[in-house]
Amino acid sequence: MTLVDAPGPAPLADRLLRSSARQSYDPDVDLDWSAPPVPGLWWMQPERMSLYGTPLWRRLSEEQRIALSAHEVASIASVGIWFEVVLMQLLLRDVYAEDPRDPRTQYALTEVGDETRHTVMFARAIAAMGVPAYGPRAHIRRIGRLGPLALHGPSAYASILIGEEPVDRWQRELMRDERVQPLTRMVARIHVVEEARHVTFARDELTKAVRGLGRTQRAWHQALTAQVAYVTMRSLVHPEVYASVGLDPQEARRQALGNESYRETIAWMGEKVMPVLEENGMVGERDRKVWRASLLMR
Ligand SMILES: [Fe+2]
Ligand SMILES: [Fe+2]
Repeated sequence: MTLVDAPGPAPLADRLLRSSARQSYDPDVDLDWSAPPVPGLWWMQPERMSLYGTPLWRRLSEEQRIALSAHEVASIASVGIWFEVVLMQLLLRDVYAEDPRDPRTQYALTEVGDETRHTVMFARAIAAMGVPAYGPRAHIRRIGRLGPLALHGPSAYASILIGEEPVDRWQRELMRDERVQPLTRMVARIHVVEEARHVTFARDELTKAVRGLGRTQRAWHQALTAQVAYVTMRSLVHPEVYASVGLDPQEARRQALGNESYRETIAWMGEKVMPVLEENGMVGERDRKVWRASLLMR
C-alpha cells in the first residue's frame, strides 16, 4: 500500500519561496543612502586586502591604505555585479522551458529578483562612495559573454556556487567588523541573508545535476568549472585600483598575487565551497593546476 497523500517535509523550493516572502530586503528603504561616511573607518577589513603586509603596503600611509580599501571593495562589488548578471542569465535560461507552476521554476525566478536588487544595491553603493565601478578586466568581460552559452547543469550550478560562497564568507566577516563603514557593512548584511537561500538552492541543483553524469561529460563540466574559478577569483581586484594611491598597477598586482596573506585569504574564502565541489565530483584530477592557480586550492 502506498500513502499517496502522506504529509512529508515541504520540497526545498517551497521552503525557499516561503523564506523569500518572509525575509527579503529593499535596498531603497533598508539602507540610509544619505548618511555621510564616518571619518577614519575602513571600507573593508584591511587584513583581507590584496596588498596587506607587502613591501608596497608598508610604503603607504594609513590614509592611503583606507583610500585603497574603498577602491578595492568597489572593485569586488563591481565584479559581483558582473558575476550576478551572468548568473541571472544562467537561471533564466534554465527556466526558459520549465513549467511556471513548478515551485522550482518560481524559486529560480525569485532568485533573479533578488539578484536584480543586489546589482542595483552594489551599483548605488559604489556611486555613493565616489569611486569607479572597475568590473573585471576588458578581456575577462569578453570571456564572460560565453558563460551563459557554455555553462549548463553541473557547471552552471558549480559556477554559481563559486561566485556566491567565497564572497559570502568574506562578507560575513566584513559585516561584523566595527572598523568598517556602516554602508559597506549593511550592504554585506543584506547580501548575506539572501545569498544563504541561493547557496542552498545551487547546492541542491548541483547534487541533482551530477547524478548519472558520464565520464566525458563530467570531465567537460570539471574543466569549465575550474576555468570559472580561475577567472573569477583572480578578477576580484582590478589592477587599476592600485593607481588610486599612486602605485604601479602591474607591480602591485604582481605583489598581490604573490602575497602569502592574500593567497591565504582566497583559500579561506574557498573553505566552504571546495568540499561541496569535491563531494559532487566537480574537481577533476587533471584540473588541479588550474584550481591551484585560482588560489581556492592550496
Ligand atoms: Fe547576490
Ligand atoms: Fe545570489
